[in-house]
This record gives sequence, structure tokens and C-alpha cells, in this order.
Amino acid sequence: TLIKPTSIVVFGGTGDLAKRKLFPAFFNLYIDGRMPQQFQIIALGRQKYELEAFRDYVHDNIMAFSRNTNFLPEQWNDFKEHITFFNANINDDQSYQELRGLVEQNDASWGVRGNRLFYLSIAPNFIDKVSTGLKNFGLADNTTGDRIIFEKPFGYDKSSAIELNKLLARTFHEEQIYRIDHYLGKETVQNILAFRFGNSIFEPLWNNRHIDSVQITVAEQVGVENRGEYYDHSGALRDMIQNHLLQILCMVAMDAPNEFESEQIRDKKAELLKSVRRIKREDINHYTVRAQYAAGTINGQAKKGYKEEPGVNPNSTTETFVAMKFYIDNARWQGVPFYMRTGKSLRQKHSAVVINFKDITKTKFPANRGDIENNQLTINIQPEMDIRLSFMTKQPGLDMEMKPAEMVFDYFQCAPNSPEAYETLLLDVLDGDSTLFMRSDQVEEAWDIIETIQDEWEHGDLSPIYTYPAGSWGPEEADELLKRQGHRWLSSV
Ligand code: BG6
Repeated sequence: TLIKPTSIVVFGGTGDLAKRKLFPAFFNLYIDGRMPQQFQIIALGRQKYELEAFRDYVHDNIMAFSRNTNFLPEQWNDFKEHITFFNANINDDQSYQELRGLVEQNDASWGVRGNRLFYLSIAPNFIDKVSTGLKNFGLADNTTGDRIIFEKPFGYDKSSAIELNKLLARTFHEEQIYRIDHYLGKETVQNILAFRFGNSIFEPLWNNRHIDSVQITVAEQVGVENRGEYYDHSGALRDMIQNHLLQILCMVAMDAPNEFESEQIRDKKAELLKSVRRIKREDINHYTVRAQYAAGTINGQAKKGYKEEPGVNPNSTTETFVAMKFYIDNARWQGVPFYMRTGKSLRQKHSAVVINFKDITKTKFPANRGDIENNQLTINIQPEMDIRLSFMTKQPGLDMEMKPAEMVFDYFQCAPNSPEAYETLLLDVLDGDSTLFMRSDQVEEAWDIIETIQDEWEHGDLSPIYTYPAGSWGPEEADELLKRQGHRWLSSV
């Protein structure tokens, strides 16, 4: 499709996200011929940059962070002409006035009123200011072509998320708002829907008659690095479960929409989040485990404990690890436990979904039943990117002996240099496709799911916080959570 000429305005244009993700993504889209024919990126920043110095800075960042650094000098020379730097003060009306001048200049040179994208890569406390500025200066008044992109955190808890959504609704139409959860842009996460609904053989099994339990793991090897201050006020429940893991859950567990169309897909996701059973305060310890990393060793290197990290309160009770169990109260999933875990400073980076099928103990198969393992479907999200189906086969030979085997689909073999999440997501915004973005109701439901737990962990005294050594797979209590039901964490690493 032909995308209309577009002015792309990046608030926070000299920030970390722009540097590592946004500019490399725009550049790769450009190289792939996916940017609009006419576009201009206006990066806003508080620092003063000469235009050429800013373009050089973007070039250096592309060399450092892009998946593709093997491009022709002409490609860069063409692309850099599309970059403008604007030294702005987002608290000052004058800046919005000038910004308006810049985008109108683009429109004039294109001979049409272009679309406008406003990427708000800024701290949450500036959102009010910026959206009011955009409104007062009529910058985003075309409700079909002007779009606003936000990053998490979308609020701090349910009530602040509702406030934020109200504030945005005063200024923009919901269809103009694109809330990014970058996990939804990952190739392997998007493929979950393709895999489930583009095949006839899996969907009939995708329910509580055939599936025993489901596991979602997002393990990180990195600690909090230089984000201690932010993270200490957040914790793994807010930083990961509320968004990324619940979004993966939606992909795995939602019902099929009648049509694969943005609103219907998002309706189905919101419906799924509504049917996630809320955990009562008195049951929290039965369903959840929280923990914090202590000093340990990762890849032979000593690693500090969380409380020693810069920016972290030495008495902090913020969790860096969460394991929990959810139930979904609908016909498809009644009774099936969904286990989730995520944490920092764990042994390896490893994200995966495991569908654990029921065992076959009731059949009369002649083999020694103890030898038969139940089928598992593993969807490796990162860094391994593959899908594995385990099944039993006969061990070649005269006896009926069984052994497990695997069928594997490997992404790297078919697409060794596939687009990054941000490329997919930015192209969707340029195109006006909101399927992979979160609607306000989804965000609010997701906060609702964790609200009681969050409150108890912060203000209550019912839940212990355990520790785990950096470089482990988390606290033993996370294993106990599954053992009680005869399960264990399944992991292909
Ligand atoms: C972010 C979290 O949303 O996701 C970080 O704030 C986390 O704490 C990151 O490290 C993980 O993303 P990825 O793509 O590296 O798995």
C-alpha cells in the first residue's frame, strides 16, 4: 500500500530508545523500501545539536545498534536528508508553535497535508504537557491521519492508568492512540496466532480436554543495569507481567475472532483478560512467589546482589523475580493452570511458551507406560527462535520400546536477518494498523489482574520475599509452586 507523506515527530529524540531502537528501525524500513515516498523525521531534544552533528550521531547509533550495518554510503546519504533536529523545550508554548511551522513546511513541500506521527518517548509526567501542547496548537487534529505513539509504563496501577487514558481521551480519539508493547512486534510472538489459526491440526486440541497446563517463561540474564532508580519503583510484576507476559498469554489463549481485523482481535484479547480469574488477597501466597536476586555468578563472572545495584534502595523489597499461576474461567480453559515466571539476573536469557499436553495413561498401548512422556509443544521466543513438538516413537529394534523424538521448525534457517520488533510496529503505525497495539480497555484489565497482588506486596505483610543467587533459575519456592500440582518448569535450555 502507498503510505501518505508523513511527518514523524520524536519527542525524546536524543533519548535511549530513539538511539537504540527508533532510528535503526526507521533506517531499516527505509532500506527495505517500506518508508513512505515522502517523509521527514523531526527529532526533538533539549540538547543543542547542529543538524550535521545530529545526523552523525544517528549514523553512529545505527552502526552500533542496527541489525544491518552493511549498507551503501548513498543509502545513508539519502536517508539523512530526511532527518531534522529541533531543539525544543516541551514546557514552552513557543516550541509547539515552531513545531507547527516545521510540519507545515513539510506539507508545503509535499503539496498535501501529510499524516503526522508523534512518538512520545518521554517520562510519564510530561505526557499531559505534551498532549495539551499538541492539542492547543492543532498539531494532531486530523483524527484519521495523525497518530500518537506511547511506550509503557501506561500508568503505575489501575487507577493511574484510567486517569492517563482519560487524559488522552480529552485530546485524541482512541483510534489515534498507539500503545506499544514491543513483545507483540516480535516475530515469534506474532507467529503464535499464525500457528494457532492458520493450521487445522492444532486448534482442535487447544483446550482443556487435551492440554494439561501451559507455561510462559521470560527469563533475562541482565540485571537492572543502569535502570535501578526506575526499576526499584516498578518491580517484575509491573515491568513484565502486567504487559509482556499477559500479552503473550492473550496470544496463546484468546479465542479466534470472526475476522482477523484489528478491533475484533483486540476484543478477543480484552475478553480473555476479563476471564482471567482474579487472585484473592488471602490466596496470594498459594498462587504467587516473589523474589529478589542476591550476589552470585553469571558466566563465571561475579554479579552483585540487587540491593547493591546503583539507584536501588539498600532495604528494597522490590521483586526482581515473579512466578505465578493463573486460571482462566471460560469453557476452553476451565481447570488448566497457566504458569508464568520472569526474572532478572537468571542463568540465561530464555523466553518460551510450553504447551504441555495430557498424558495417555488411559490408553492400552503395549509399551511400558512409564516410558511414555506426554507431548509438548515448545514455542521458543528468544534468543532461540523455533517451535518444537515432542512425541513418542518406537525405538528401532525387535522390541516395542519407546523413545521421545522432536519435530522442529527453526526461524533462523528461513529468515536469518528478520525485522526487529520496532520495525514491524512502526510500519504498522505508518500504515494505520492498530492490531498489535493495546487498546485502553486491555491496559486497564491487565492492571486489574495484578492489582490485589501489587497492593499486598507493597503494603501488606502476608507475602515473604525470597532470594535467589544471580545466575540461578530463581528461588526454590518457584519450583514448589508447580510441584504441588505434580508439575515442574520445563525448559529447553
Ligand atoms: C522492557 C522492560 O519492557 O522489556 C525491561 O522494562 C526488560 O526491564 C525488557 O529488560 C525486555 O525486553 P527484551 O526485548 O530484551 O526481551
